[in-house]
Amino acid sequence: MRTRNKYRKPTILGCNAGSRYSTSVVVLSLLGCLILLHLYTYIHHTDRTGGQSQLRLNHHPQFIELQEVEEENIQIPPPKGKRSPRAAKRRPKRTTTLIDEFLDENSQLRHVFFPGHKKTIDPIQTPANESYYYYPGRIWLDTDGNPIQAHGGGIVYDKKSRTYYWYGEYKDGPTYQVHKKGAARVDIIGVGCYSSKDLWTWKHEGIVLAADETNETHDLHTSNVLERPKVIYNERTGKYVMWMHIDDANYTKAAAGVAISDTPDGPFDYLGSQRPHGYESRDMTVFKDDDGTAYLIYSSEDNSELHIGPLTEDYLNVTSVMRRILVGQHREAPALFKHEGTYYMITSGCTGWAPNEALAHAAESILGPWETIGNPCIGGNKMFRLTTFFAQSTFVLPLPGFPGSFIFMADRWNPADLRDSRYVWLPMIVAGPVDHPLEYSFEFPLWSRVSIYWHRKWRLPHGSSGF
Ligand code: GAL
Repeated sequence: MRTRNKYRKPTILGCNAGSRYSTSVVVLSLLGCLILLHLYTYIHHTDRTGGQSQLRLNHHPQFIELQEVEEENIQIPPPKGKRSPRAAKRRPKRTTTLIDEFLDENSQLRHVFFPGHKKTIDPIQTPANESYYYYPGRIWLDTDGNPIQAHGGGIVYDKKSRTYYWYGEYKDGPTYQVHKKGAARVDIIGVGCYSSKDLWTWKHEGIVLAADETNETHDLHTSNVLERPKVIYNERTGKYVMWMHIDDANYTKAAAGVAISDTPDGPFDYLGSQRPHGYESRDMTVFKDDDGTAYLIYSSEDNSELHIGPLTEDYLNVTSVMRRILVGQHREAPALFKHEGTYYMITSGCTGWAPNEALAHAAESILGPWETIGNPCIGGNKMFRLTTFFAQSTFVLPLPGFPGSFIFMADRWNPADLRDSRYVWLPMIVAGPVDHPLEYSFEFPLWSRVSIYWHRKWRLPHGSSGF
């Protein structure tokens, strides 16, 4: 070995002037290449994450406020009634968790999860410092003073009228079960629509897609299921297109329905339903990309995976392109959004109306592959974080003018009285490194952390919604 090294040394390092010169050139060129590569990856990285502007934004006092970690310390009440000493010996009672309390209609903590409303409706009558605050979980009233009925909903910004439209399930009817073991339900009433200039004051625009009360064979017959309506605007056709989950009371139809309107405040004409790409479709959403291409994303194969595929140019149908994503992960309630060229999605687990842990996912291409990057919830307490603050994702709205900032919209379902389900809207920031770095482009992570911050009350930063 030693002899071989001795022999090689001069050849590698160069013994005469000519070879020394060419070696320096090679070394210098290599160095140059490395510097260029670093420069490229740095620019590429700052482009993807919003770079300096993102950092500056995160240091803005109003954003620091939104990112403050707010803890909750909720004491679980002692069990009701005394257990006999013999019974206590036989089987130690399972400790009650906050989620048991949440699901117990008679829990002493009911008011914690389903508090009454705060007088937040009329900004004129409300003390100035209390106006424009969101109170996640409280009853939210529209401008007529009625509780807002827009569950499992989403929002569209209408550029022409500079107005936000919020659509969702209008569930103001009695909750009942078809079978003893069946899920709690409310008959279809229709899709509620609310308009707002500031994302805070909501005017009821009526039921823009109504149930069919007479024709039992109609998808929208009161006895069926209409969930998670989402509207997108088609610039080519000038139409507002609504996609929604259509099902029978037993959730065996598993289809996606489409409706169309010339105006955002309806009425929408129902065009029919289908099993997209020939597969079951339950919880779903639509996402419109920057290039105008829209996508349908739905839980399929017994909710074990999600499917994603582009819609036709008129947004009224799916195309033949479909990809299976998050296969075997059993996710639903998808809410998709984009930040600096990367696609993100929040999903829930599949536990019916009961809350569970949210997960964030990211992808470089919307058709996948999608990576799971962890639980986005911050603050509250452990149980709050493991239950998405006792709520389920429905939509993510980018805050205009504040790149990397979003409103995370979720539903706190009340299975005992579904019309009394609450809205949990919270600030969501996409920035910083992910918890479990998964993939890198050179030494930079491909995606940023998605963080949803718990707040008992919070408000939008000035300039984000026009007030
Ligand atoms: C959930 C779903 C809701 C509704 C509910 C019925 O899993 O996200 O939209 O379908 O089940 O139990």
